[in-house]
Amino acid sequence: MDIFTAVVRHLLLIAVLLFNVPVFQAIIWSPASNVLLAGSKSKSHVTYVESVSAGIQKAVQECQYQFKWDKWNCPEASVFTNTQATREMSFVQAIASAGVMYTLTKNCSQGSFEDCGCDERRNGDTGGEGWTWGGCSDNVRFSERMASEIMDDSEESQDAITVMNLHNNEAGRKTVKQTLQRSCKCHGVSGSCSLQTCWNHVGNFRVVGDEIKRKYFKAVRVDFVSGKLIDGNRPEDRPRAVMTASLNRRDLVFLDQSPDYCRANLTIGITGTAGRECMVREDVGDSSPSSSLTEDSTTPSSFRWVKQSCSRLCRSCGMEIRQTEVVITSSCNCNFVWCCQVKCDTCRRTVTRRTCQPIGSLL
Ligand SMILES: *[C@@H]1O[C@H](CO)[C@@H](O)[C@H](O)[C@H]1NC(C)=O
Ligand SMILES: *[C@@H]1O[C@H](CO)[C@@H](O)[C@H](O)[C@H]1NC(C)=O
Repeated sequence: MDIFTAVVRHLLLIAVLLFNVPVFQAIIWSPASNVLLAGSKSKSHVTYVESVSAGIQKAVQECQYQFKWDKWNCPEASVFTNTQATREMSFVQAIASAGVMYTLTKNCSQGSFEDCGCDERRNGDTGGEGWTWGGCSDNVRFSERMASEIMDDSEESQDAITVMNLHNNEAGRKTVKQTLQRSCKCHGVSGSCSLQTCWNHVGNFRVVGDEIKRKYFKAVRVDFVSGKLIDGNRPEDRPRAVMTASLNRRDLVFLDQSPDYCRANLTIGITGTAGRECMVREDVGDSSPSSSLTEDSTTPSSFRWVKQSCSRLCRSCGMEIRQTEVVITSSCNCNFVWCCQVKCDTCRRTVTRRTCQPIGSLL
């Protein structure tokens, strides 16, 4: 491709993103824009721009969900301007990569691309006791390859952060494959289900997000030595060669310790925890399963995590917890009135809202 075409495509992509995707309006330089701009260098990637931006949006939403009750809460500023190599950025990189692969997978199975469709290679093979492969399995081979071409190609240099990003991109893609689910359909004499056909498909993206959050907790701190990442947390007496071999491609890796997320540092996109809302045990009692806060939490540990958020966000940052009473109004006691209305009362409820407040501040 000549340089002129390349430049035009470049600008076209920027235009598409800036005007269609609000999240990109703020980007000047970022892992995400990096991806999308560099993607334009390769022939057909323009076809996937929509999918890529949808995937990155999905990733940002998931990141903010997963870190809602953490000191670092995935602020867009830090996602899109950060050039750090922290544990948090390993999550961002992996979730973005997974989001892109996930969306490409879905698009492919829905028939949105000419060059890909269901993965039927194994159809007819025996999968296990009483079942064979059949139906439309998600084509993760296609989406893995495409996501890798788009995301990894955007990394040009061979410096430490680049190598770290490439590793975490791959870990993100592997997570999509690790969390594939199998669905089956019964066959056989009138519902006897003596034979089933099964296919693989991606589950809800939340499952991918939960798994990458788990990987975030056990992410490995690495060193960059002679162009390679090596496990930096091992005892010094183990030979380095062994450590290199033991770095798992599924794991997240990071180079630098996280900064203090308690205090704002706008230079690096950190907002600090002052003013953040948090919860204590009684706010998320087991008695309120319908609370919108917890109903979509998939792991039991997240209840505990949320319940302890005031202690994590405020106390451990040397701040006080400020309580305010807030009146919430909502519809209640709704009745169906013949015909055809629904009549509701307005109910008021006082809830306690807690936020972090620097000690001695007059807020
Ligand atoms: C792929 O899916 C996403 C989200 O579901 C959608 O926004 C995007 O337009 C789709 N891409 C194509 C090419 O259909
Ligand atoms: C903000 O972060 C940068 C980079 O880590 C650091 O050099 C600087 O000292 C920090 N500023 C404050 C006010 O903490």
